[in-house]
Amino acid sequence: MNKINIAIDGPASSGKSTVAKILAKNYGYIYTDTGAMYRSVTYLAIQHKISFSDEEGLVDLVERYPISFEQTVAGQKVFVAGQEVTEAIRQNDVTNGVSEVSAWSGVREKLVEVQKEIAKNGGVVMDGRDIGTAVLPNAEVKIFLVASVLERAERRFKENQAAGIATDFETLKKEIEQRDYLDSTREVSPLKQAKDAFLVDTTGLSIAEVVKRIEEIVEHKQALIK
Ligand code: DC
Repeated sequence: MNKINIAIDGPASSGKSTVAKILAKNYGYIYTDTGAMYRSVTYLAIQHKISFSDEEGLVDLVERYPISFEQTVAGQKVFVAGQEVTEAIRQNDVTNGVSEVSAWSGVREKLVEVQKEIAKNGGVVMDGRDIGTAVLPNAEVKIFLVASVLERAERRFKENQAAGIATDFETLKKEIEQRDYLDSTREVSPLKQAKDAFLVDTTGLSIAEVVKRIEEIVEHKQALIK
């Protein structure tokens, strides 16, 4: 079977990373969480006191601190210049700054270069906002995952609770709406469904149902390109 690339885009907490990880495991593919890369730059900016509005300073951080992933039985770990940041990049200060940081074209150019390199030989499940439109426009399968704001806020609330991060539900909902707005109205590579992407609405669906739906799409594509 040919190794294809699977691009999964969609708004915050639409379930992208959960299903992308399962698909990667089922197909023996590499999972790449591009949101974690933008989060890592935001984390570095906070640590090094670089303003989110300082594009040059942010690009300099990307150049100085390479971001890498390690797959382990416990899940995927994220590192910047060898230091593990897996949990640090999920904290509220990072989450609330990442839309501003990821809007800079200089930052995006550098990270997109790395993302293209990771996927160049196929066999990758990559999730983000611009994978189907800008990073992997030739991906064999493109999925655009959506879910209602209410359900996404509930999911993020549960995830935060499980991770021991204190959050107020209404605040969380507003933050998700704000991030949707910023991510889909920015000038460079805004969150947008690619013309050839399949829309999957996960509202009310279980993770297993979403995975099954995507696997059907993948199998259909595989049959066509065999
Ligand atoms: O998927 P996530 O919530 O971890 O992503 C964090 C932020 O990074 C998101 O608000 C927008 C940005 N992002 C992006 O601009 N492009 C991507 N390919 C992935 C994420």
